[in-house]
Amino acid sequence: MVSTSLLRFLALLVLSSLASGRSTPRKSDDWTEKDQKILILGGGVAGVIAARTLHDHGHDNFVIIEARGELGGRMMSRTFGTAENKYTIELGANWVQGTQVGNGPKNPILALAEKHKVKTIFVRIMSTVPTYDHTGFIDYLDVFNSAVDNYTSLTVAAGPRVIKRQVDTTSRTGYSLIGSKPKNRYAQVSEYYQFDWEYAQTPEQTSWIASSWAENFTFVPDAGGFSEDNLFAIDQRGFKALIQDEAKEFLKPDQLVLNQTIKDIAYSASGVKVTTTDGTEMSADYALCTFSVGVLQNDDVVFNPPLPDWKQEAIQSMTMATYTKIFLQFPRNFWFHTQFALYADSERGRYPVWQGLDIEGFFPESGILFVTVTGDYSERIEALPDSQVQSEVMGVLRSMFPNVTVPDPEAFYFPRWFTNPLYRGSYSNWPASFYSDHHENLRATVDQRLWFAGEATSMKWFGFLHGAYYEGVDVAKAMVKCIQAGGCVGLAHVNEVTNGRPYKI
Ligand SMILES: Cc1cc2nc3c(=O)[nH]c(=O)nc-3n(C[C@H](O)[C@H](O)[C@H](O)COP(=O)(O)OP(=O)(O)OC[C@H]3O[C@@H](n4cnc5c(N)ncnc54)[C@H](O)[C@@H]3O)c2cc1C
Ligand SMILES: *[C@@H]1O[C@H](CO)[C@@H](O)[C@H](O)[C@H]1NC(C)=O
Ligand SMILES: *[C@@H]1O[C@H](CO)[C@@H](O)[C@H](O)[C@H]1NC(C)=O
Ligand SMILES: *[C@@H]1O[C@H](CO)[C@@H](O)[C@H](O)[C@H]1NC(C)=O
Ligand SMILES: *[C@@H]1O[C@H](CO)[C@@H](O)[C@H](O)[C@H]1NC(C)=O
Repeated sequence: MVSTSLLRFLALLVLSSLASGRSTPRKSDDWTEKDQKILILGGGVAGVIAARTLHDHGHDNFVIIEARGELGGRMMSRTFGTAENKYTIELGANWVQGTQVGNGPKNPILALAEKHKVKTIFVRIMSTVPTYDHTGFIDYLDVFNSAVDNYTSLTVAAGPRVIKRQVDTTSRTGYSLIGSKPKNRYAQVSEYYQFDWEYAQTPEQTSWIASSWAENFTFVPDAGGFSEDNLFAIDQRGFKALIQDEAKEFLKPDQLVLNQTIKDIAYSASGVKVTTTDGTEMSADYALCTFSVGVLQNDDVVFNPPLPDWKQEAIQSMTMATYTKIFLQFPRNFWFHTQFALYADSERGRYPVWQGLDIEGFFPESGILFVTVTGDYSERIEALPDSQVQSEVMGVLRSMFPNVTVPDPEAFYFPRWFTNPLYRGSYSNWPASFYSDHHENLRATVDQRLWFAGEATSMKWFGFLHGAYYEGVDVAKAMVKCIQAGGCVGLAHVNEVTNGRPYKI
């Protein structure tokens, strides 16, 4: 039954590909006759790794449906620069965060980068950085160093709260309790570099416990993390090569449908049916939804019937943060010769972290420099025309280098993650009002048929590539178990979050 409908599906796939020049599966109005066992919605890290895990367990009757023309999702690159001086730059994920110490746990993204020979470079993020303000270079490294120490204290002080089963609070509360209350622009930008630059939101907007865990499980080997090291991808195939090459090893052409944006997901206890923007319908026994929590929070994809209250509360209680890299290219390098520099504005979070790519080992002679903004500031600039953002950025750069005649850039670009309907932000950030039961409900299966995975469903590694990877593995294993048992409840939920159980790892 399954195999004949599968064969028919494949035959029609070939026919329709021949007819339209792309893979468009047939229309299916019949709920009882499924095209597939599993539809994997979204071809980012979670989707691809879930597919690989299903394949490894002998379940090959799945199809990945992806809106864009390639796999990778938020591993997204593009070429940037003038016609004579072009480079592949990373708009999304750029780092392997946490590597490995000795025989300790190894970041699976590092393993993929090694396997597929993705070129990366070791970067010492917390090494000394030149410091600037609105008058030019000014040394506030002492403040910078105290912010490094305070961030460590913050993550350490969260530990006993977990053991003593105390409630979560915001990281701002945590900072204040350890005596760190940055009041001037130098303390603020130094704190920003430690905190917002990682979580893409402010300490006020972030859970103290969850952010401390995210730090520990990625960067602190003593606490179960990989290592404190970061590798910066500079591969001209794009960082995404690691997931695209991995997919090539197991994914057959008929298991991938690109350029199809899903607009409707209908589900019931007997199956699922998705409809794409061009009217194509595909049905299956199960669907695995890997869209970002930002997409789920909005109405880009309609669920039919609407998701249950417990699921909607979990989705709306997580935060989708935004991290924006603003790229500039100049005819020549007139700035610092380090990887990083900090700029302290009177407004916290205004064009604070600068990174030069025009250095040995990176892209020498590229003339490329970028500055990162996050959170509310990202949302603000996305609403502005490029020309205004460029003039603000140039104003800051000219104040950082008062003695240089700073030319206008020859190329300028920044991605709008927050307004992009396929992402609605960059990555999730766990707020203090997101309880442990919300977390379980975010991962939980709906009506035994509709499954969820992605970076946001990871308790230890939300926001990271390796979080998406591990969630892809875990959900696929749970689905395999369920299918082999002839059906199951799936990942459990609670109907009402009254307080949330104490955190357990
Ligand atoms: C700017 C930025 C910087 C980052 N930096 C790092 C970093 O340095 N290191 C790190 O570890 N992590 C980083 N991350 C986070 C990392 O990229 C993500 O955690 C990870 O890629 C998420 O994978 P995913 O599979 O969960 O989701 P996604 O990659 O979002 O995959 C979901 C897929 O669903 C598709 N989709 C969405 N809507 C639809 C629809 N309606 N129909 C069909 N398809 C749809 C999307 O196109 C996407 O391909 C960064 C992210 C961003 C944006
Ligand atoms: C997807 O769309 C892009 C842009 O329209 C096109 O270049 C590409 O060939 C398409 N890919 C597939 C597999 O249909
Ligand atoms: C983070 O790791 C440090 C160092 O091992 C530890 O002291 C602290 O309790 C951990 N924090 C949390 C929230 O687990
Ligand atoms: C770090 O905390 C100490 C108090 O422990 C405080 O005096 C100092 O100003 C803080 N540093 C920053 C950058 O806020
Ligand atoms: C800029 O030039 C002035 C005057 O020559 C000098 O005093 C100042 O130190 C210079 N500033 C920088 C950042 O080099």
